[in-house]
Amino acid sequence: MTEVFEFDNWSQFTETHWQRRPGVLRTPLTAPMLEPDYFSALVTAADDWLGGKLVRPRDVRMLMGDGEVKSNSMAPLLPRAEDGDMSQYIRRVGQYAHGDWHIVVNSLQQFSWPLFRAAKEILDGIYRAAGSVPAGLTDCHLIAGAYGEAPTRIHKDTATVMTFVLSGKKRFYTWPFEALVQYSRTPDPLHHQVNLDIDFREVADQATVVEGQAGDVLYWPSDYWHCGESDGSPHVSVHLATYTDNNVARTLDSLVSTALSELKSDHWLDGFAYPPQVGGGPDVAADKAMASILMDVAEGLPTRSQAKRLRRASAVNFEFVPGQRGSAFSGERAVVDERFPVMFERGVDDDKTLLLAVNGHVSRVPCLPWLEDFLTALNTAGPSGVDYRAHFGRTLRQSEVAQAVAAVAQLLRFIDSAGGLVHP
Ligand SMILES: [Fe+2]
Repeated sequence: MTEVFEFDNWSQFTETHWQRRPGVLRTPLTAPMLEPDYFSALVTAADDWLGGKLVRPRDVRMLMGDGEVKSNSMAPLLPRAEDGDMSQYIRRVGQYAHGDWHIVVNSLQQFSWPLFRAAKEILDGIYRAAGSVPAGLTDCHLIAGAYGEAPTRIHKDTATVMTFVLSGKKRFYTWPFEALVQYSRTPDPLHHQVNLDIDFREVADQATVVEGQAGDVLYWPSDYWHCGESDGSPHVSVHLATYTDNNVARTLDSLVSTALSELKSDHWLDGFAYPPQVGGGPDVAADKAMASILMDVAEGLPTRSQAKRLRRASAVNFEFVPGQRGSAFSGERAVVDERFPVMFERGVDDDKTLLLAVNGHVSRVPCLPWLEDFLTALNTAGPSGVDYRAHFGRTLRQSEVAQAVAAVAQLLRFIDSAGGLVHP
């Protein structure tokens, strides 16, 4: 029988479960993730996919029976506003699919500010309680459809996963890493996604079952083997996956192979006017190209890695975040959510520049003498906010006030458009 845990603070969860053991959570702390309008996020994702706007088109995929639906057949099967809601969409595709099908959307948080905020609140609570942020990226996946009735293949990922059941029932069988590692043929299985070729029935009796229905959250640590089972009825679930792996050696390996394959391609020859003007053949062109890349990389690296670190830190490790929106800010008082202050740092290689990070959006602004004081005041003002015009009246000479107010109004509009201002 599955144990159900109720928590009222994330410290309890990190002490008993986070990266320790699987469980079913039914807790007020997870409730914010049940509120966003997932159907409209899904419709936005589908529209962006159809409009060719996705950085990674495979973030929207559909599977039917044993295979993936080809991208040129997907359009009529994608959700659209006329479906009305998730259950009517699932019914429409179900009539066509006759059985096992689902739609998978990765990085769903980029399509919905309410979802991004809910996920941020939960992850921030966990990371604070755990005292550290995992090395890898965080992502939010949605799966909707109807599975077949056989268990899926036993596998492990490199992510710790919280599965929020939105509708239908979900059951997962989970096993600790040591229990099934002998069946893996992959080198270093702890740090890789691994599928096992074993019959579920052989090991089912050793599994810890986590199952739940709408409102429940199923959790398992990143090193647990798992497989899902379904009764074939429609279901929707959303998954907060936090990848624990960020292997530098593997990243460098992939950079080197990308660079090598790029160097073989023709556009380098175009770029360096090979052969008549350069002379010395492709090796010289390649050497020059590589030297120039390395120089660029070396010069820009500290700043770029600083910006990347701030971007990730301000977005609880999400890489894809909702785009900036129009700013509604026009008032005298500016209020930020105290839990998510505006992050700011002087540039590592240029201390006349200030980097500001809000919800994964980064802006670089000149570091005027009063700016850091103002941002500190904004972050610590509490729910009443800071009256920014009065703030400058108190701290600056008359001649400086107008200039400061104009600069800060622009800054506040950036913070607002990145979702950082709270409108009382
Ligand atoms: Fe998985």
